Amino acid sequence: MRMIRLPRSDDTFALGEALGRRVEPGTVIAVRGDLGAGKTLLAKGIGAGLAVPTRVQSPTYVIVHLHPSGRLPLWHADLYRLSGEDELEQLGVDEAIEGDGVVVIEWPDRVEGWLPADRLDILLEHDGEGRVATLSATGPRHRVLEAVDV
Ligand SMILES: Nc1ncnc2c1ncn2[C@@H]1O[C@H](COP(=O)(O)OP(=O)(O)OP(=O)(O)O)[C@@H](O)[C@H]1O
Ligand SMILES: [Mg+2]
Repeated sequence: MRMIRLPRSDDTFALGEALGRRVEPGTVIAVRGDLGAGKTLLAKGIGAGLAVPTRVQSPTYVIVHLHPSGRLPLWHADLYRLSGEDELEQLGVDEAIEGDGVVVIEWPDRVEGWLPADRLDILLEHDGEGRVATLSATGPRHRVLEAVDV
């Protein structure tokens, strides 16, 4: 487990960028935190670190976005509006997780039991005007990301 202080928005983006440069095929990052914690900004940073040319944004009605054209394919899921785990199968998130892309999931608590055992959990919490991130690898594949250079 590692805690990183993020006093400004730029720091959230920069953490994402650093992660995006280090992620490998099969990386799964579950981003936790309340409304407005900075989850989408972190996902945008990950996209930038992966050199994804398309805009990473909060999906309105679409729950999963595929950004195929960066260093690795990036699947960005926002499960806030997910009705249940059944819906995930229709969305193709299973395939994404089994594949060689990178998966970033906002609101992973919607599908807690379904998440892969080995992933990187990131909790974003308010810390004064800024945020603090807690990075926890839940298995050996993701441990290297805990030690990311920021
Ligand atoms: N480290 C930080 N310090 C200060 N403000 C931050 C920090 N990180 C993010 N923010 C700000 O928090 C706001 C919300 O960010 P963002 O939309 O990424 O949150 P979110 O967790 O995705 O929210 P939601 O749950 O509504 O989708 C933005 O204005 C962003 O600039
Ligand atoms: Mg968001």
